[in-house]
Amino acid sequence: MSKKILVLPGDGIGPEIVAEAIKVLQVINDKYTLNFELIEDAIGGAAVDRYGEPLADSTLAKAKEVDAVLLGAVGGPKWDTIERNIRPERGLLKIRSALGLFANLRPAILYPQLASASSLKAEFVAGLDILIVRELTGGIYFGEPRGIRTLENGQRQGYNTLPYSESEIRRIAQVGFEMALLRNKKLCSVDKANVMESSQLWREIVNEVAREYPSVELSHMYVDNAAMQLVRLPKQFDVIVTDNMFGDILSDQASMLTGSIGMLPSASLDENGKGMYEPSHGSAPDIAGKNIANPLATILSVAMMLRYTFKHPESANLIEKAVGLTLDKGLRTADIMSMGCEKVSTSAMGNAVVAELKKL
Ligand code: IPM
Ligand code: MG
Repeated sequence: MSKKILVLPGDGIGPEIVAEAIKVLQVINDKYTLNFELIEDAIGGAAVDRYGEPLADSTLAKAKEVDAVLLGAVGGPKWDTIERNIRPERGLLKIRSALGLFANLRPAILYPQLASASSLKAEFVAGLDILIVRELTGGIYFGEPRGIRTLENGQRQGYNTLPYSESEIRRIAQVGFEMALLRNKKLCSVDKANVMESSQLWREIVNEVAREYPSVELSHMYVDNAAMQLVRLPKQFDVIVTDNMFGDILSDQASMLTGSIGMLPSASLDENGKGMYEPSHGSAPDIAGKNIANPLATILSVAMMLRYTFKHPESANLIEKAVGLTLDKGLRTADIMSMGCEKVSTSAMGNAVVAELKKL
């Protein structure tokens, strides 16, 4: 089996955190002789600088050819004022869409060692383990028509469209149910069916799919209530399945329950398990180049890559264990720092995980 990985460090803290994740990947590569072949290219602002667009066709061609993509993060103030259709974020949306990565898995797991870093009381978040399944290639992010037009009265009007077809809803619902089956068999579908037609259809189709999964307990929740419940009683959730934009928002919110968005990995999968793996956080331009960002979300994304694309759960478990052991030692990057712990740099955190991994 070919094992090619395209590495797209991107912008801001992207290159720093990806460098640490690659160290971890190399250890696994050596330990299990997996023969991974790594290719590197640019995305986002870095690609705008190199190719004049946030995702060059040649880069996309490579992404199509490899088995998995490891991505850092995109965007930054340098490119905030450029033309809308070559903004760094467009590169990310284009690669998700062109690779058909419709299923975005965003776990929010609280490492017990970080309970005090959460903004909620420890009793509300201890043992928290939620999986958000976000639809990633449809909805308002891609819907047409969209744009900024000038009305007859001379005012400009921005507009977007939120379409979801039955097949798009069905396939993401199926992922939600499949994930629930592997976990605590509870699925909460989040929508805004009291207001939006696309959500009404969403709910209808999710109910239809539910008939194929009688052992999963399905509930529906409006997104505003879900946002509230996530901070009121987060442990009521097991798997949440939701659309592109709601998933974007709720996954940031869920991440904070765990202490830091710097801890959360993600996997974006197509129909065949090919995937792109990236931290759930952004490019954090304010701390870029300072060697202080938390590399753990990217390292944990490598674990997801090994689990979902390369079907190598053993090595994925090992990485997760090594991260836990590193936290046990009290090592913390600034974002998860708490009293009595030792503050370390991005590279020191990566090296510490590598050291733990080598002992396992
Ligand atoms: C995310 C990010 C992206 C999104 C941005 C950078 C386009 O916020 O992956 O959650 O909105 O999907
Ligand atoms: Mg987001």
